[in-house]
Amino acid sequence: MMTKENNPPVASAVGLTKIFRDFWGRPKAKAVVDIDFNVYPGEVIGLLGPNGSGKSTTVKMLLGLLYPTAGTLSVLGRSPRAVDTKREIGYLPEESYLYKYLTASETLDFFGALFGLSAAERRLRTEQLLEMVGLSHAKRRRVGEFSKGMARRIGLAQAMINDPALLILDEPTSGLDPLGCKEVKDLILHLKKRGKTVIVTSHMLSDVEDICDRVMIMYGGKIRAEGTLNELLTITDASRITTPQLSPEVTAKVLKILRENFGSSEEFQVDHPRKSLEEFFLEVIASARRDSVETAGVVSGGQIAGYLNDDKDSLLQTLTKGEAVPEARPAIPEPAETSRAELEADNIRLKKLTAEAPAKAEPEPAAHQAAEKLAEANDKLKDLLSGK
Ligand SMILES: Nc1ncnc2c1ncn2[C@@H]1O[C@H](COP(=O)(O)OP(=O)(O)OP(=O)(O)O)[C@@H](O)[C@H]1O
Ligand SMILES: [Mg+2]
Repeated sequence: MMTKENNPPVASAVGLTKIFRDFWGRPKAKAVVDIDFNVYPGEVIGLLGPNGSGKSTTVKMLLGLLYPTAGTLSVLGRSPRAVDTKREIGYLPEESYLYKYLTASETLDFFGALFGLSAAERRLRTEQLLEMVGLSHAKRRRVGEFSKGMARRIGLAQAMINDPALLILDEPTSGLDPLGCKEVKDLILHLKKRGKTVIVTSHMLSDVEDICDRVMIMYGGKIRAEGTLNELLTITDASRITTPQLSPEVTAKVLKILRENFGSSEEFQVDHPRKSLEEFFLEVIASARRDSVETAGVVSGGQIAGYLNDDKDSLLQTLTKGEAVPEARPAIPEPAETSRAELEADNIRLKKLTAEAPAKAEPEPAAHQAAEKLAEANDKLKDLLSGK
């Protein structure tokens, strides 16, 4: 790849390892085990893997939030812990750590101030970012009352307030509706066009396939596969010819010719069929399991809890037994093709409908307030425990 020869990596790991230990110093979870990787400028890298495979731990080490047990890691040519490094990174955490009593604008203003931006610059960026993530209508609402998708959007805006060179997004599309997913993907591609480097973790394989240049698939703390989507997914021992729809007569002719010899024609475009990223992902995980690779994460889906199976005739029972379910639903008619303009118009209508939802501040019942206090204390404890 061109970038590899020409530029030093934005992030580079050699033998990177993180072992969590218990109170007595005994190894509790081998979260990341001896991994090497390079991330080059302008790349969008996808970090994939099942739950507990070490993605977030890797991300937290890149951010200097966790200290590696072994190995070396450099980000933007420095230690991830250096203050200068942090200034150039934007981070969307797996769970939002937003202060729930601030409004959307105040949140962005606050983070802008942390980065030392002037008041004028903060105002400008806040306005533009809120517009970009579709939250302009909710700028005066407290983020504590945001829906999951709205919280994700304000988190993304927050990650970009310092116009970072490197963006690290831990599951940016989680909790977003399909429209939101599309917007976030478009946004990431836009940032890539502007020369930003992006590292994303995700469980949404199709999302990753749409935006990433390169993926790394982790399992049990190790990188099990790494490469560009073309490298990983192209089936090189087969060929595919793409043509407009062929009539039976033409098909017969083509087959005749192909049988005679494999001569090519300039009118034909020949490429290789690709398997889906999902297929490939599942293969990698299956082979890791066959090799009995250890994982501290989820191993496989378990059985349905016995007490849930009490109802002998339940649909769940039928499904889990693998019996045929009686055809109940009518066939879904093929949707008519929707034009881009129609989609856009729908999108605008949807935005108008969801905008300005009445948000009267109602006095909260005491129990609710107590629960919030508890949640906040919990958050603080989490931060303390994770060394922040
Ligand atoms: N602070 C911690 N203390 C102890 N163990 C931890 C800690 N953080 C992570 N782990 C363990 O490290 C392993 C990897 O966790 P990590 O959060 O990196 O996984 P992940 O790939 O991000 O998973 P997910 O898809 O569920 O977000 C897990 O076994 C987890 O229990
Ligand atoms: Mg994670």
